Amino acid sequence: MTDTSQPPPLLQMRAVSKQFPGVRALDDVAFDVQRGEVHVLLGENGAGKSTLMRVLSGACARDAGDILIDGQPVVLHSPRDAQALGISTIYQEFNLVPHLTAAANIFLGREPLYGAGIINRRKLLADAASLLGSLGTTIDPSARVKDLSVAEQQMVEVAKALSIDARILIMDEPTSALTESEIDQLFGAIKRLTGRGVAVIYISHRMEELARVGHRATVMRDGRSIATRPLPCPIPELVRLMANRDITQHFPARTRRRGAPLLHVDGISRPPRLREVTFTLHRGEILGVAGLLGAGRTELARAIAGADVPAHGRVVLDGQPLRLGAPSHAIRAGIGLVPEDRKRHGFVPGQSVAANLALPQLHRLARGGVIDRRRERALATKWIHELRIKTPDASARVLTLSGGNQQKVVLGKWLAAGADVLIVDEPTRGIDVAAKMEIYQLLDRLAADGAGILMISSDLPEILGMSDRVLVMHQGRLQAVLDAGEATQERVLQAALGLAG
Ligand SMILES: Nc1ncnc2c1ncn2[C@@H]1O[C@H](COP(=O)(O)OP(=O)(O)OP(=O)(O)O)[C@@H](O)[C@H]1O
Ligand SMILES: [Mg+2]
Repeated sequence: MTDTSQPPPLLQMRAVSKQFPGVRALDDVAFDVQRGEVHVLLGENGAGKSTLMRVLSGACARDAGDILIDGQPVVLHSPRDAQALGISTIYQEFNLVPHLTAAANIFLGREPLYGAGIINRRKLLADAASLLGSLGTTIDPSARVKDLSVAEQQMVEVAKALSIDARILIMDEPTSALTESEIDQLFGAIKRLTGRGVAVIYISHRMEELARVGHRATVMRDGRSIATRPLPCPIPELVRLMANRDITQHFPARTRRRGAPLLHVDGISRPPRLREVTFTLHRGEILGVAGLLGAGRTELARAIAGADVPAHGRVVLDGQPLRLGAPSHAIRAGIGLVPEDRKRHGFVPGQSVAANLALPQLHRLARGGVIDRRRERALATKWIHELRIKTPDASARVLTLSGGNQQKVVLGKWLAAGADVLIVDEPTRGIDVAAKMEIYQLLDRLAADGAGILMISSDLPEILGMSDRVLVMHQGRLQAVLDAGEATQERVLQAALGLAG
């Protein structure tokens, strides 16, 4: 049925399918977007969201299906084709050149020239400044990208997309590493874009932000488009569509008992990011670590896990001083770290899911220097099941998994190793709602079994819902230690801003 009085949607994807070895990533997907609309794409880890967007951006060839823009079928064989059609993508991982300036990144390969092939630097900077300004930011276009915060890099990506006159802007989990105020800024920029008629396709696992930014949501499950709903829509309904079952969105009841002191951190310092931090983690305890971006939380984790050498201070584990700056020593002593930057430090991308899950306990799985593959496989099968890691099988290489499933592998290897002290840095970033709840259960169980957990998170509800005590950091120092009973959103934020102790 075609209604000739209505203009066709800006974008229409029809019956799009894509098969990877062992995985039907896209199965007869239908999806459409209107001008000036923010259309949210939802789904569990591995549902096919990123793949659908890679097809739309010409980065991945579809096996079947049509893509229409303004009602006309288009050819999309390469990212260049997509760019010519005004389709621009900001990926889960940025694509900026760190040592180049913001301006150079925005106009990379399309720099304004004087004629003789010489770059007109003044115009480059002025154009970049005006683009960045139109997004409501004050980023210096001559600053190098590596010196910008994640949020600022994000804005540079958006400006870059605008510079090619994007009509459709794809954002794949743009807020996963942003703070609240940075998210506000990004949403402000999105509003300006849609006001000009640009359509935004927005992928996120942060359910609470959907209604703030989106007009409609399409839910994907197992490679299929399940339903499209106008926003706001009750979150439990969207979650049920995603997971195909009811998910209790509750934190586990805190029935754990605080046991003996386990890890004592004594005056650890690594100026300027870490200053004189002292606290004790007990067995059976989940200690939340809150703070703003750059407050020193990741530095604290890295110092304890031996990834960095502190300038001074001591770490004592079960009465034994830890050799600082020696990661392998920390691992053998029973300290596990799930790092924030999992892509770079968390896993070996070219290796199998099984090998990655077994990594911290190779010494236990090896006999006479040879890894017992049967036991490795059994271990992998268990954790693939426990964490619902979506993979064709245990031998698939981790780099072929979806973003969220790669993270589950990193978390799984430490859960499997049964570390005594588990340090998790942003454990649920990029993880879908259902899996989040499972991770909370696992952390709770681990603590109940006697481990001590240090949980760094920018997700305040998660900090408040999970922690027995909350450490709040501000500018490298421990600003406050709050018991679960006294830790409220306001008190944690106050302390994070350095306003109260
Ligand atoms: N290059 C590839 N080779 C093999 N399988 C792939 C490849 N890319 C994606 N897949 C598979 O396709 C499925 C869909 O992945 P996709 O990345 O689209 O999920 P997603 O919805 O974006 O998940 P997430 O929320 O975790 O980012 C997954 O099962 C994934 O393992
Ligand atoms: Mg994805």
